Amino acid sequence: MNPVKVYSRYISRAVLLTLVAFLPVLLSTASFRNHAAAGLIAQDPLTEQQRRGKQIYFQGTTSSGEDIVASVGDSSLEVAGNVMACANCHGAYGHGKPEGAIRPSNLTWSSLSKATTTNRIHPPYTERSVGIAITQGKDPAGNKLRTAMPRFQLSAADLADLIAYLKRLGYDRDPGVSDNKIVIGTILPKGSLAPMGQSIKATLTAYFTELNSQGGIYNRTFELKFVEASDSASATRAAVERFIKDEQVFALTAAFIPGAENEIVTLMDQLEVPLIGPLTLYPQTGEPLNRQVFYLLAGINEQARVLVDFAAKQAGPKKIGIAVVYPRNKLNSAVVEAVTDQCKKNGLGAPQTYDYAVGSFDPAAAIKQVKRTEPSAVLLLGSGNESLSFMREADKLGWFPSIYGPAAAGGSGIFEAPAGFDGKIFFSFPTAPADQSAEGIKEFRALAEKYKLPAENVASQLSTYGAAKVLVEGLKRAGKDLNRAQLVQSLEGLSGYQTGVTPAITYGPNRRIGALGAYVVTVDLKNKKYAPASGWIVPN
Ligand code: HEC
Repeated sequence: MNPVKVYSRYISRAVLLTLVAFLPVLLSTASFRNHAAAGLIAQDPLTEQQRRGKQIYFQGTTSSGEDIVASVGDSSLEVAGNVMACANCHGAYGHGKPEGAIRPSNLTWSSLSKATTTNRIHPPYTERSVGIAITQGKDPAGNKLRTAMPRFQLSAADLADLIAYLKRLGYDRDPGVSDNKIVIGTILPKGSLAPMGQSIKATLTAYFTELNSQGGIYNRTFELKFVEASDSASATRAAVERFIKDEQVFALTAAFIPGAENEIVTLMDQLEVPLIGPLTLYPQTGEPLNRQVFYLLAGINEQARVLVDFAAKQAGPKKIGIAVVYPRNKLNSAVVEAVTDQCKKNGLGAPQTYDYAVGSFDPAAAIKQVKRTEPSAVLLLGSGNESLSFMREADKLGWFPSIYGPAAAGGSGIFEAPAGFDGKIFFSFPTAPADQSAEGIKEFRALAEKYKLPAENVASQLSTYGAAKVLVEGLKRAGKDLNRAQLVQSLEGLSGYQTGVTPAITYGPNRRIGALGAYVVTVDLKNKKYAPASGWIVPN
């Protein structure tokens, strides 16, 4: 029986994930068109001091590590500066985001140096008097500012940084955004994955063409730029860096980065370019937080954590032993670390591990070692075929531990597993058909029909579509005055956002995986189908 028909949507996701996970990024260097910057103004880079000030302005935090405290209202209520970032009220360009009755003043230096500012008449501001307004809430005439403007306690050095940035405010427009245009880029796979690349490209083109036909966002229409991944991670990195600079790309979305995860997310951090919804199974969420990159779904690490929680819960008070069997590489080492950490959180001992060189799995040798401690759960991180050979070998010995794996390792062969494993095989899925709302699917279908999206690679089209929707939601919330810092800030505020095709998306100052969790699904070998084994599990 064809399992694609059995549980088609799970499987189509699994197929995408398998492709993304196991096929290497192929072929030669990308070609580049050297379009002129199409009327978008390039900027003088900020000085170090202005960059520090920018962080205070947009995030309310300092790079010096000194706290910023804001006193709010007439009461002496004090809050941390990061919940009162200047940009929240004064906007990315300092023009003031009018919300409610009181208009936050225009903070551009040209406005502050006039004798009248937004709400009062007073002598022009100087650096010194701006400092007094920020810390003591008084304008240059000595008028008390309204309490809607918090009073900030910050060190003299931080205040100087902030004022240095205020002088650039209004001119600090990032590349790729003008009053009527915004440039969005993506990275496409090529070689044997070129059809997937075509699907990603077609989906983005359809989505943004449709949005443009409705007037864009805040009167800005979208222009899309594409770059192909190269044959090595470092070449891809170099190509993407040139691409962002030459094509003046404001932000990336749905970029295909498998094999180059580390290089690309580091580049985004260095260039301070947001990347929303990269297509990868390995979100890079280690410390320090990479603020620029927003993932939609849990990757293998987070799914492995969910599986450990699930296994521990199933075992109840019994302390189970877990073994991890995996092809040796850097990404899997990180997964093993996550599993170890999660075992600890569940009061379990460290997992037993068995690794092998990629492509040379010897199931008999693996079992010989792993079976010694009789673990009741074995997490397999290799291919579907390797998992199958492991189970066949265990079957010969009459040994039937529970088998766990991320969705990507599934594949159609799993239904051929020995009967003794019936109900003992568990896969994690970062999303399930139930996450797709009727409305979300209807909208996507209408788009697919109108723009004749390819019939293949529907799973990657849905991932792309979800990523683009999250980006656009961030842009809507960022407001008319837009720069990259403002986009990152507004995405951080996203909570429970429904794309219609994924679980709800929530980010935060320390959270970069929108739908942090997974479902566990078991394999019914008799009827050759998957069956839900859990609801949504958020890792401990
Ligand atoms: C919660 C919203 C809010 C935040 C956060 C905020 N402001 Fe304000 N700010 C206001 C409002 C409203 C006014 C106008 C007050 C008035 O007219 O009396 C104002 C006025 C000012 C003024 C005086 C300008 C004038 O018209 O005389 C300065 C300078 C200023 N803000 C700087 C900042 C800086 C710098 C930060 C961040 C460190 C910041 N503000 C954070 C709301 C805010």
